[in-house]
Amino acid sequence: MNKTFYITTPIYYPSGKLHIGNSYTTVLCDTIARYKKLRGYDTWYLTGMDEHGQKIETVAKENNMLPINHVDMIAESTKELWKNLKISYDDFIRTTEPRHESVVEKIFEKLLAQDDIYLGEYEGYYCIPCESFFTETQLDENHTCPDCGRTTEIVKEESYFLRLGKYQERLLQFIEENQDFITPETRKNEVISFIKQGLNDLSVSRTSFEWGVKVPSNNKHVIYVWVDALSNYISALGYNTDHDELFNKYWQKDGVLHVVGKDILRFHAIYWPIMLMALDIDINFKLYAHGWYLTKQGKMSKSMGQVVYPTPLIEKYNLDSVRYFLLKELPYGGDGIFTPEDFIGRINYDLANDFGNLLNRTISMVNKYHNGLVSKPNKTFTEYDIQLKEKISCTVENYKQNMDAIKISNAISEVWSLISRTNKYIDETAPWVLSKDESCDEELMNVMYNLVESLRIIGILLTPILIESSQKLFDQLNIDENLQTFDKISFGELVKTNVINKPVPLFPRLDKEVEEKFVLDLISTRETKVENTEDYIDIEEFKKIKLVVGEIIECKIHPNADKLLVTKIDTKDKVRQIVSGIAKNYTPEQLIGKKVVVVSNLKPVELRGVLSEGMILAGKNKKNLEVLEVTTLKKGDVIS
Ligand code: MSP
Repeated sequence: MNKTFYITTPIYYPSGKLHIGNSYTTVLCDTIARYKKLRGYDTWYLTGMDEHGQKIETVAKENNMLPINHVDMIAESTKELWKNLKISYDDFIRTTEPRHESVVEKIFEKLLAQDDIYLGEYEGYYCIPCESFFTETQLDENHTCPDCGRTTEIVKEESYFLRLGKYQERLLQFIEENQDFITPETRKNEVISFIKQGLNDLSVSRTSFEWGVKVPSNNKHVIYVWVDALSNYISALGYNTDHDELFNKYWQKDGVLHVVGKDILRFHAIYWPIMLMALDIDINFKLYAHGWYLTKQGKMSKSMGQVVYPTPLIEKYNLDSVRYFLLKELPYGGDGIFTPEDFIGRINYDLANDFGNLLNRTISMVNKYHNGLVSKPNKTFTEYDIQLKEKISCTVENYKQNMDAIKISNAISEVWSLISRTNKYIDETAPWVLSKDESCDEELMNVMYNLVESLRIIGILLTPILIESSQKLFDQLNIDENLQTFDKISFGELVKTNVINKPVPLFPRLDKEVEEKFVLDLISTRETKVENTEDYIDIEEFKKIKLVVGEIIECKIHPNADKLLVTKIDTKDKVRQIVSGIAKNYTPEQLIGKKVVVVSNLKPVELRGVLSEGMILAGKNKKNLEVLEVTTLKKGDVIS
């Protein structure tokens, strides 16, 4: 049976559109997952969204939306982003899904029943954006959050606590005995010294807001968002349910990798293993904490002036340029900076010049000198051949070591050093000279074969990284599918091939100045504002929204979300189905027969697996939510 490998990203907060920072983690995990598959592992890749908590409740309110509608919207746009980045995830978990919530409830109640969680009272400083409590001693004199620098608030409330102190020594011992539990080493050391300062019991419930999983035995309390979120790694596998096959299969010792950013290391290196110990589940995972992508201004944020979103870059410069940059530019464990100059530079130098050009030159020469055909020679001709083959086997070894250690940027450097070596081999062997002498024909064929074979191996190494270009390389060289795999990576596996007649450039060379300016405009968030008009829309924008009267003819509770209602609405031109987050305010019976106002040209979306073709207008204040009803207008009447 194949060895298993389970890899996870953190689950993302749906507080806004995801940028290249969060996308980095997902692309990194995608690359590792693809690599492990190539190496023969039975792989499971999980990502998802962390949708509960006060922060999300507040953001939804600011956008005049119900939290569920807000998170549905961001979940859709996140899935769209992963599609654009060709992320090969196997499952996408959302913490608002019943399959997750029920597991969180069971985990909490189990820990409560065995006294690892107890009821007490909390007074402390709370940072809403980070969803974290701090004690006075952890803060400076201004009481700003040590993680994000924003102001904290004093909160006093009844709270449940998780006994961290009880597990402190066991955790330290575990880290000592499992030296590669946390990488890089510096991060491990940070964790150890944090634990050694002493772990206070952790407040794991809130009573100040609603949006979360309620403690089943005490509905006043919402389960702390980090306990909720961390549980996703096992709830998604069906832990503690009747369908726990994935859990049994993939939760294997050293077969689990959680990839996280440095800012959320503590939650994963301390709270999560302690939760597992208390649940009597083996700590089978390893943790890799990566650094951050910054811009020249510092942290990526709208207020700082620059945010980089992947989709427009992919649309303009293609997927592999973006994946390459992300994976190459962040050094192991350290931070990286996104600049337009480096982004365009990497495309021009690394991708177009070094890599693309090697393929181009090779295909052109094979056509020119041998009508596109190469076949395996039966001897070695020069010292250069020997050096090239040695370089290949050494590159493959170093690449594997780096990929296994999640040093992806280093693995890429290894491949590029082979690309340079192969380019140099062309200059050393000078095929244009050999072609002038008929007696060198065999030697010329040998050079062509070595180039194609070297490129085939480069293609295999790049498969998890440049997912489109590696395929284009195989297509242009006409490499059989069974020679594109890792078990055929040794030099000499190719017997013969017939390359395409005319090479197609993989990456066009870009005009440096024009494109740098284009990228800079794309990532700049500061706009020139005309005083007092930024909140206005013009009449043409308003006219785009088509409002029509519809009669609700059918209504039921959403099969997968009890906060949603699924209505059938007759707008005369058709009967449309609309999903709305109004189940708290209306029963299905109360809605049937009502004439309401419908946005009829809203892009259809699937909400929790059910198609929604529009939106019902509703108004709300702190107490009520009310759908807008009309009295004398009839279904199909247009509102303008
Ligand atoms: N919801 C929590 C994670 C819960 S996991 C059980 C969370 N979400 S997040 O959306 O704020 O961040 C998700 C990941 O994105 C984190 O690993 C974080 O480090 C990463 N990044 C956010 N901004 C980043 C950069 N600018 N650069 C690199 N990674 C960044 O935390």
